[in-house]
Amino acid sequence: MSYQLQILPVGLSCPLLPEQTVLDAALADGLMLKHSCRTGTCGSCKGQVLSGEVEHGDSPLEVLSAAERAQGLALFCCATARSDLVIEAPEVTALRGIGIQQMGVRVASLDKVSSDVAVLRLTLAPGAGFTYFPGQYVQVLLKDGSRRSYSMATHAPRDNQLELHIRHMLGGVFSGHVFNALQPKAILRMEGPFGSFYLRDSERPMIFLASGTGFAPIQALLEQLREQGHNRRPVYLYWGGRRREDLYRHEQLLAWEAQLPWLRYTPVLSDPTPACDWQGATGFVHRQVLSDFQSLKGFEVYACGAPIVVDSARRDYVELRQLEAADFYADAFV
Ligand SMILES: Cc1cc2nc3c(=O)[nH]c(=O)nc-3n(C[C@H](O)[C@H](O)[C@H](O)COP(=O)(O)OP(=O)(O)OC[C@H]3O[C@@H](n4cnc5c(N)ncnc54)[C@H](O)[C@@H]3O)c2cc1C
Ligand code: FES
Repeated sequence: MSYQLQILPVGLSCPLLPEQTVLDAALADGLMLKHSCRTGTCGSCKGQVLSGEVEHGDSPLEVLSAAERAQGLALFCCATARSDLVIEAPEVTALRGIGIQQMGVRVASLDKVSSDVAVLRLTLAPGAGFTYFPGQYVQVLLKDGSRRSYSMATHAPRDNQLELHIRHMLGGVFSGHVFNALQPKAILRMEGPFGSFYLRDSERPMIFLASGTGFAPIQALLEQLREQGHNRRPVYLYWGGRRREDLYRHEQLLAWEAQLPWLRYTPVLSDPTPACDWQGATGFVHRQVLSDFQSLKGFEVYACGAPIVVDSARRDYVELRQLEAADFYADAFV
């Protein structure tokens, strides 16, 4: 048995199996609804069910309250259908041949670029092909059935390899394995691409805001604009870390800033020590944007990294700097 999912206002529809989430059904049909974590944590897939009955599945009450459920809202990454559904989704992206796939990849290299960040290069199977929108992420599939999300750090596979930037979380199962045990030639299984963090086609100036390894998808966006060769949209890049070593691609960015007339790079440290020998900006990275811009009207903001940075930026830029809420695009690393 399958139901029908109708998406308004675009007027597109697709089949929906009872065990499939609304998001997965749309993705399987080549239609991407706005989403990020796919685990009911970030809230970015929240939307209105206009008619029909849904089961909220694992949607946590902190992310989708009882009042919101009563108003007909749902987390499309958790909700499954109990009837035909009509939903409202302001942004639907055609995947244009980008297929979500599971694949085995081989570790080509693992470089520890700071005390808690590793750059992992993964070789795709020959001829496998893997396309994605720069900014999207993959999920590493662990043996216990759980998944871990990591953003592609290059705009496309390079030499048939993907690059991931992995932060070592204290007590973290997968990042601990990466730091302490993973060796070149090991095989990992992953699935993707996922996420609606990608550049929108417009002429607007952009703020790129990254904290820590939130730089990974931002690097992919910068590469995309660099490769195009004709970008005229101003990009104001803010990258925040605690210490100098957290800005593990600082020199590369200084070189890109010198080459690219549209790029302005502002590194920000929140907790520099004398050993950092730091003369640059200090404080919370999202606040540096508030200091530098009195208005963000007409801007697009692309923000990635620690949830506290992403959430504070979204709130402050909309409430204090007139950014349109719809022009804030983010992956919070929940
Ligand atoms: C869309 C998206 C893209 C992302 N991209 C990146 C990226 O490019 N780079 C990157 O570094 N990160 C990224 N992340 C974040 C990354 O997915 C997580 O940091 C990762 O899942 C951590 O996995 P882990 O196995 O190392 O830690 P986990 O084992 O999942 O643990 C995470 C933390 O929770 C703690 N913890 C675990 N279980 C418990 C418990 N029961 N009680 C209390 N504490 C607990 C651990 O000690 C640890 O500190 C992204 C996240 C999302 C959603
Ligand atoms: S809560 Fe659904 S994508 Fe994050």
